[in-house]
Amino acid sequence: MWKKHEKIETNVVLMAVLTLITVSIGGLVEIVPLFTIETTIEEVDGVRPYTPLELEGRNIYIREGCYNCHSQMVRPFRDEVERYGHYSLAAESMYDHPFQWGSKRTGPDLARVGGKYSDEWHVAHLIKPQDVVPESIMPPYPHLLARSIDGTYIADHLKANVAVGVPYSAEMIESARDDLVAQADPDGDHDALLARYPKAAVGDFDGDPSKLSEMDALVAYLQILGRMVDFTDIQTEDILQ
Ligand code: HEC
Repeated sequence: MWKKHEKIETNVVLMAVLTLITVSIGGLVEIVPLFTIETTIEEVDGVRPYTPLELEGRNIYIREGCYNCHSQMVRPFRDEVERYGHYSLAAESMYDHPFQWGSKRTGPDLARVGGKYSDEWHVAHLIKPQDVVPESIMPPYPHLLARSIDGTYIADHLKANVAVGVPYSAEMIESARDDLVAQADPDGDHDALLARYPKAAVGDFDGDPSKLSEMDALVAYLQILGRMVDFTDIQTEDILQ
């Protein structure tokens, strides 16, 4: 054994070839099983791609750097679950490109903020946070009300998401612009939208039905966060036992 080893250690080519073989075997054992499983994320009922308006709002969330102060992942610890609700599941962010889990929490986690406040509260808070939470250090975002969106590129944006694995159907892409407008229009065709995107919040979000603003989009996005999966039957105590 010792003699054979000396042969390998004194012959650099032999050493390189044998090292390559050993590393390749190790690599294959780790990588090949990943090709045979569909996905490493367990699917969960209710998780769906974002509506065009929510997606637009998500872009604004990223553009404005909200993630610098807000995470979107409830960790599976008692204090987190008692404060925010059920801990986040991997599937809940499977259509997020890029995901917004984050680790910086100057403000609270937003993974379950959907439905916690009214649209009016969000609008007032985003215009001037101190009007509703006097001690807040969150910056104001009043310009979102003034900036309108027209959805020129929204269908392309859905297509880009398809390229990274989000299952938008051809029908969803075709009606992307109509859906974008309908979601924030109190008289819009909500049935078609809700058939494609269950649980989407609809109506005028920013208090000005005559205009589709960035505020509409951002609030529509905030209102769906954490609401896709139905956790009503799951009690906090069950989770933590
Ligand atoms: C400088 C850090 C900072 C930034 C940037 C920031 N926030 Fe906040 N946010 C806070 C703080 C602190 C609070 C808690 C006080 C309050 O409610 O205003 C908060 C609270 C919130 C709440 C209420 C959460 C709850 O459960 O009560 C929402 C919603 C929110 N922020 C959304 C946003 C959005 C959307 C953006 C980007 C447009 C943003 N924030 C940017 C610091 C920030």
